[in-house]
Amino acid sequence: MSGFFITFEGGEGAGKSTQIARLAERLRARRMDVVTTREPGGSEGAEALRHVLLSGAARSSGDPDLEPILFAAARADHVASLIRPALDAGRTVICDRFHDSTRVYQGLAGVDADLIALLEKLAVGITVPNLTIVLDVPAETGVARARERRGSAGPDRFEADDLAVHQRRRQAFLDLAQREPQRCVVVDGSRGVDDVTKEIAFLVHDRLDGQRLERSSMLGDDSII
Ligand SMILES: Nc1ncnc2c1ncn2[C@@H]1O[C@H](COP(=O)(O)OP(=O)(O)OP(=O)(O)O)[C@@H](O)[C@H]1O
Ligand SMILES: [Mg+2]
Repeated sequence: MSGFFITFEGGEGAGKSTQIARLAERLRARRMDVVTTREPGGSEGAEALRHVLLSGAARSSGDPDLEPILFAAARADHVASLIRPALDAGRTVICDRFHDSTRVYQGLAGVDADLIALLEKLAVGITVPNLTIVLDVPAETGVARARERRGSAGPDRFEADDLAVHQRRRQAFLDLAQREPQRCVVVDGSRGVDDVTKEIAFLVHDRLDGQRLERSSMLGDDSII
């Protein structure tokens, strides 16, 4: 029986890491077996590539296709060595960024859409998230939060982009969510942390209960209803 796969998406400072920690805590309190992970990274091979990707080293090679290929390599390793085995063991996996981030970031950077789709097929395969929460905040809010959190450390290669770029990414996440309404839910992340946590908990419980009902009816077991 496959576990439930949730991804969090959105721009820098949208509140993904904050909300993932809170959701995981809530689900564990419900005695669920939860694995939290992140991209780029999440497995040994992928974490080794994380530095190359976030430092901008892959970009400075001058080949625009190199970065998406490295992201895909990292994702393939992450899926094969951590996400898939956890789901196959019936665990709930919550991942901080996944393939939608590649669609948005590399898509807007001008990488060919066919290449992105092909790499996604290779790296993700059947391991498509059951639910994707897109945390939506105005670009200014996200950038200000990320700056505050970072303190004196310098911005990474994605945080350092212009506000206009952050705005285009925000719109791209919204467009993507609209194209896949079954999988994606947009959550207004500009509210207080607790309000956002409550809405996410509500919608995740709703989906999990829906999945359980679906399974029990497939098995002809109506005792759960
Ligand atoms: N709803 C909120 N209201 C105010 N501040 C928040 C809210 N959610 C998170 N923050 C704060 O904003 C900063 C960024 O949040 P967080 O690290 O969760 O964002 P993120 O989406 O994971 O960012 P990144 O993509 O850069 O990793 C943190 O300092 C966090 O405490
Ligand atoms: Mg984060």
